Amino acid sequence: MAVVDQGSGAPLLLAHGFPLDHSMWAGQIEGLASDCRVIAPDLRGFGQSQVTPGTVGMDLMADDLAALLDALGIDGPVVFCGLSMGGYVAWQFFKRHRRRVAGLVLCDTRAIPDTPEAAQGRRDTAARVLVDGPQPVVEGMVPKLFAATTAEAVIAAARGVMSGTDPRGIAAASLGMAERIDATSLLASIDCPTLAIVGQQDAISTVEEMALIVAQISGARLVEIANAGHISPLEQPQAVNEAIREFVAAMG
Ligand code: MLT
Repeated sequence: MAVVDQGSGAPLLLAHGFPLDHSMWAGQIEGLASDCRVIAPDLRGFGQSQVTPGTVGMDLMADDLAALLDALGIDGPVVFCGLSMGGYVAWQFFKRHRRRVAGLVLCDTRAIPDTPEAAQGRRDTAARVLVDGPQPVVEGMVPKLFAATTAEAVIAAARGVMSGTDPRGIAAASLGMAERIDATSLLASIDCPTLAIVGQQDAISTVEEMALIVAQISGARLVEIANAGHISPLEQPQAVNEAIREFVAAMG
């Protein structure tokens, strides 16, 4: 598993979105390493990490991250920060590795599962990407991911990462997301400090949907990020860093 491990202090584990890699957290690695030990892996099938053909579930990705913490010698609890697919992994990490979680940061993510139609769409995507490669999938996704004001250079860099992702990794995670759990039943049991972050122009996990998640987690707080869409940490790193820094500091 490829990982960037930078800084010192409270461990902050960053789980990226789909079909991206650790580089979507560049602003957090740079901006938060003076406050935290920032750990930014490439999830299975993405970036430079190992690819497993077939279906890669969110549970397996969560177990990969627990094994990564073992490999890094981190036994104590971490702040787990996941964006979108990384948030789906966060639900599983909380469920399967509760003792390792000091706090949760849920960025631009959803708790509800796919509708049958959406799950079928993922299976179609998985089949198509293995034949045609990532480009058609990426071109279909990019217009939905970013706020209108997000810099072209930021979008171009993300598009480059997505287009360079191994098609087998994209297919396996698509099939895994199609099978993900309904995490709404988990929300009331979340008993650690929780911060939710959402881009005000997020068209995929909207402000309204994230407010519903927050309403069901005791003590959770929602921070809206102006001029950001679905990838708020990449689009507005300073505002997101400020929210995370304040959250981690309040945890002591
Ligand atoms: C992501 O950004 O990780 C994706 O939007 C997740 C998804 O396709 O549900």
